[in-house]
This record gives sequence, C-alpha cells and structure tokens, in this order.
Amino acid sequence: MTQGTVLVTGASSGIGAVYADRFAGRGHDLILVARNAARLEAVADRLRRRHGVAVRTVAADLTDRTGLAAVEAILASDASITHLINNAGFGSAAPLAAASVDEMERMIAINVTAPMRLTYAAVPAFTARGKGTIINIASIAAIGPEVLNGVYGGSKSFVLGFSQSLRKDLAGTGVTVQVVLPGATGTEFWDVAGLPASHLPQEWVMSAEDLVDAALIGLDRGEFATVPSLQEGEEWGAWEAARQAMLPHLSNAVPAARYRSA
Ligand SMILES: NC(=O)c1ccc[n+]([C@@H]2O[C@H](COP(=O)([O-])OP(=O)(O)OC[C@H]3O[C@@H](n4cnc5c(N)ncnc54)[C@H](OP(=O)(O)O)[C@@H]3O)[C@@H](O)[C@H]2O)c1
Repeated sequence: MTQGTVLVTGASSGIGAVYADRFAGRGHDLILVARNAARLEAVADRLRRRHGVAVRTVAADLTDRTGLAAVEAILASDASITHLINNAGFGSAAPLAAASVDEMERMIAINVTAPMRLTYAAVPAFTARGKGTIINIASIAAIGPEVLNGVYGGSKSFVLGFSQSLRKDLAGTGVTVQVVLPGATGTEFWDVAGLPASHLPQEWVMSAEDLVDAALIGLDRGEFATVPSLQEGEEWGAWEAARQAMLPHLSNAVPAARYRSA
C-alpha cells in the first residue's frame, strides 16, 4: 500500500537521490526530476528494485519554461502527490565580480524561480486536500551569504524567507513546510561550484546520507528550520528570538535618534 507520491527535483544525484531512497524506504512512490535522463533512470531502476515502489522519471530542465511547466502540470493534477522536495540547484564559489552574469541568472532560475513556481503549482492542490508537505533545500549560505558566491547566498536567503512566509500563510491548512539548511555536503555540488569537496577541510563535510537522515528526523519532529550541521541548536533559537524581538520595532514614522542631525 503506497504512502503517496513524493516529487523530488534534482533527484539524479547527491542530496535529492538520497531523499528519493529514504522516502522509497518509507513506502512512498516517487516522481524524480532532473535534466539527465540516463542518470535519473539509473536511480529509478535501483530504487524500484531495492524498495518495490513505483518510480516515474521526468527529464526536464527547470531553468526552462517548458520543462518547468511540465512539472507544474504534474503537481497540479496528480492527486497522489503528498510531498514536494524543492532540491534541484547549483552554486558557485566564484567572487561576484569574477562570475559570469549569465551563469548567475541561470542560478536564480533554478534556485529561486523553479522552487517558487513549483510551490505555486503544489499549494492549491495540497490545501484542497488538506494535507501535503513542502521541503525546501536552502543552505547555511542563506544566513551567511558572504561564505560563497553572493548570488548563491542571496538565492538561498530567498528560499529561507519564502519558506518562512509560506509557513505562516499555510498555518491551519494541514500543509507542512520545512526548510533545510545544509552545511558543506559531499556531493557533485562542489565540482559544479568550481571547488571540489575533497579540497575542503574534511571535518566540515557531511555525507548526503547523514544530511538527509538528520533532516528527516527534524521533519518527523515537526521542526520548521533544520540545520543538521549546527551542533548547538540553541544558537538557531537565539537568532530566531532576536529576529522576532526586533520585528515590532522595524517600522516607525520618525528616524531613529542616531540619524537626526545635531
Ligand atoms: N552540497 C552542498 O554542500 C550543499 C550545501 C547547501 C545546500 N545545498 C543544496 O542542495 C541541493 C542539492 O545539491 P547537491 O549537493 O545534491 O548537488 P548535486 O549532486 O550537484 O545535485 C544537484 C541536482 O540538481 C539537478 N539540477 C541541476 N540543474 C538542474 C536544472 N536546470 N533542471 C533540473 N535539475 C537540475 C542535477 O541533475 P541534472 O544535472 O541531471 O539536471 C542534480 O540532480 C541544491 O539546491 C544545493 O544548493 C548543497
């Protein structure tokens, strides 16, 4: 008996492929999305044999309107879908001025526009059914955009902010939102970013398996923001508390005293 279908973007490798494996292990059917059809089919074949679930593959470029529209149509019409995992993305280690602006625009298309549009496609269907889960893969760069390329950091800050707002808007609808902020994770991400993970201090680099297993423990506990590599969870709590404390003070008709001329 299937537990419902999980749609994973960027499922042909790395974190997305592990999410697919773990949800298949929980008895979910899968829809796997990425560009490389052969790699997707290899992942699908392995998971069908290992877990006996139904796996469909959709080879689509999510920076392209046609590819995105195909996945949006599936999310809007397939009533078996219980989970959307917005995971596909890429990064760069290049300093802003050294990075190609066209490459940066493609990064915004996959890291920002794709999860935004796929969420817009899934939410009406999920709220109509009164259930559903959206997992957005951000990054620790969301709160530290200085760490890697700034457009990458900004794109992941978008994912965090979008998720925070989405969670508020969907409260009481039965739809769950989780945002996951991985630290350095040992995947092909780093080859694409121009800095292979083998060049990083190994004590920083988590395996994709450990990352996803920890994130799923967070999901099962009803956690909204999950940062698997942050050892002291209270640090996130303190940061969030400081943000909440400042929120009521951020609009005022008069400039603060420090901005008044003497
Ligand atoms: N690894 C890390 O250290 C790290 C840290 C923080 C956050 N993250 C985030 O984790 C997510 C997954 O990355 P990963 O580490 O697992 O890297 P990865 O192994 O390179 O996986 C990226 C996935 O996205 C797919 N993808 C890339 N461009 C696409 C496009 N235009 N259309 C459709 N699919 C596309 C890739 O497949 P195809 O090439 O076949 O399309 C692949 O399946 C990303 O959002 C990344 O920003 C990673």
